Amino acid sequence: MNPPSPPVTTRQSGPVCLIEIDNPPVNASSQPVRAQIAAALETANADPAVHSIVILCKGRTFVAGADITEFGKPPLSPALGAVCNLIEASGKPVIAAIHGTALGGGCEIALACHGRVARADAQLGLPEVKLGLVPGAGGTQRLPRLVGIETALALVSSGRMVNADEALRIGLVDAVATEDLETAAVALAGRMAGESLRRVSNLPVPAFDPEAVEARVREIERRARGQVSPGRAARTVLAAASLPFAEGLALERATFTELVATEQSAALRHVFFAERAAAKIPQIAGVAPHDIRCVGVAGAGTMGSGIAAALAEAGYRVIVVERGVEAASAGLGRITAIHRRALEASRITEAQCDERLGATRVGTELSDFAPCDLVIEAVFDDLAVKQDLFAALSAIIRPDAILATNTSYLDPEAIGSAATHPERVVGMHFFSPANIMRLMEIVPTSRTALAVLATAFAVGKRLKKLCVLAGNCEGFIGNRIFATYRKQCEFMVEDGALPHEVDAAMEAFGLPMGPFAVFDLAGLDIAWARRKRQAASRDPAERYVRIADKLCELGRFGQKTGAGWYVYDQGKRRPDAGVTSIIEAEAAISGIARRPIGADEIRRRIIAAMVNEGARLLEDGIAQRASDIDLVFVNGYGWPAWRGGPMFQADRMGIDVILAEVRLMQSRDGAGWEPARRLIDMASTGARFGDA
Ligand code: 3HC
Repeated sequence: MNPPSPPVTTRQSGPVCLIEIDNPPVNASSQPVRAQIAAALETANADPAVHSIVILCKGRTFVAGADITEFGKPPLSPALGAVCNLIEASGKPVIAAIHGTALGGGCEIALACHGRVARADAQLGLPEVKLGLVPGAGGTQRLPRLVGIETALALVSSGRMVNADEALRIGLVDAVATEDLETAAVALAGRMAGESLRRVSNLPVPAFDPEAVEARVREIERRARGQVSPGRAARTVLAAASLPFAEGLALERATFTELVATEQSAALRHVFFAERAAAKIPQIAGVAPHDIRCVGVAGAGTMGSGIAAALAEAGYRVIVVERGVEAASAGLGRITAIHRRALEASRITEAQCDERLGATRVGTELSDFAPCDLVIEAVFDDLAVKQDLFAALSAIIRPDAILATNTSYLDPEAIGSAATHPERVVGMHFFSPANIMRLMEIVPTSRTALAVLATAFAVGKRLKKLCVLAGNCEGFIGNRIFATYRKQCEFMVEDGALPHEVDAAMEAFGLPMGPFAVFDLAGLDIAWARRKRQAASRDPAERYVRIADKLCELGRFGQKTGAGWYVYDQGKRRPDAGVTSIIEAEAAISGIARRPIGADEIRRRIIAAMVNEGARLLEDGIAQRASDIDLVFVNGYGWPAWRGGPMFQADRMGIDVILAEVRLMQSRDGAGWEPARRLIDMASTGARFGDA
């Protein structure tokens, strides 16, 4: 076997030394890369035949960042910051030749160079805040010197990437290569040889309005809603204007070192790797997806319109069918409004808006679906309605075309049984609004063909959705856990907490909206209808709280009726003494002596309820991995990424603490609250969800 090739090699192009990084998959600046860049620089600087140097990368990208797997472990020298300082201190010009993504440490390497050439498709950015960090290799101090404080603040605090054109416009790169990148970089290196070097650290920070910038930083801190890295990154950037470069670097280093050890950064790194893991579905590895060009959407209500808009945005030809001319025209209105809103917010151009609308046809006949490669149904969540639709569609679309159901609660297996080819049926569960929410649960039935499953994932990826494989059970992953969480919230209210206290505890935890505010927003009537349907089959031993039923009986369906768990005055919610009376009366009927419940207990009960149900889903094979469950809540239910998700929280709180809480639930709340076998086993062996 050949020894592995070194991650950094050098070659010569006339008097230019090319330092080439080859560290697949994304050329992360792992320790050997850092050490070998430093050594190559030293050699090139000592070689009289070398006049200038180009740093470039093999493979799909320039350096896409520091090696995230090294975080949380003892630092390995040389630090990337030290390597960047060596690059900048080089006596011979160093040029970065950028293709793919120059992110984080990769962007910082480029910033330390004396010149930067980007290929037209390159993207640059400092996304460290998304990992709960600040840039740690000079990015916060060099970027503002090059592009100004305001632009640097915006980029560093959001982690947004800029494309090559924008990078050129703001001064982040010196040139965009119109021909071969290496040729352009070598030419620039040749031109710079012998010239005095432009070291970014020597540049003054361009003048700015301190008051406006301070206001901007405060706004960044406020909007981060508890996540610390955006504000800290902004403050570190701002320090570039008041501190000498070396002191700014020291502040940046200290901030990076502090943040990398925080729970928030650990949680965000967990989410980063969880997203990569979710994309790995062993059963479809190597399975070719169908070629999908034309997608049908049955139903143009809120959900169908959102799905249709997302499909057009992703470049599919879209055929939407509604029943009747009126409903079809209302649907077209909704779809048009979504694209026009994107235009008005300057997220797309007029031409893109026209293109999306031009790609979308709305009709009233099922036969309109004939040319579709895939049809996604988003009609009323009723089994008979969906089965009739799939039976009818089976006779219209090609036998190899795929039928997807967007049901939230019904059984895709039962829906699929109505199709003539059940193997081409799959669940694609979008979250509303479907053009915005990133999560999609993909639910195969026992008969779904692997190529159909692979296609659902491929379509989801093209829609830029975060796709999570879910087994088939009522509510799949998200809504099944949500139902348990909802019950526990209602129990807490009967036991003594008030809805606004539960909401305040969870909002302080980082949720943008507490559970009761969410119930009101979604509407209480749908869950009420489901409870009535399930009433006959409900275990009489199960604890049942009737407060929500009472609210519905009074016509309080939530925000849409101006009252639910709260009352609404011009959209502003406030607690309602009438609701408190209903709660107290129901508690008295149930024989419960209400007691105050503190924020810690509220959070512990909610997380324990979620984790216990999550552990059951793992046992039953409904969820593949604990981290998939975390992704569902982060991307579908507003759970803050910097908390990592419920299963991540369970690991941090201790499985034994979660189990103890579930045992309390079992003794207090009775049937249905038994601890999951998985939880008991984990507590006895000291295992964590993150170990799997
Ligand atoms: N470190 C370690 N591994 C990384 C990595 C990194 N910075 N970036 C990506 N990877 C790994 C992924 O985990 C994945 O591994 P797997 O195949 O074993 O699951 C593999 O590389 C491919 O990644 P993706 O599946 O994400 O590939 P894509 O092509 O979809 O995306 C990308 C490529 C845009 C580069 C994306 O991976 C990405 O955004 N990476 C993170 C970039 C980042 O955050 N960089 C900053 C790091 S922090 C830093 O630099 C600190 C510095 O200031 C000191």
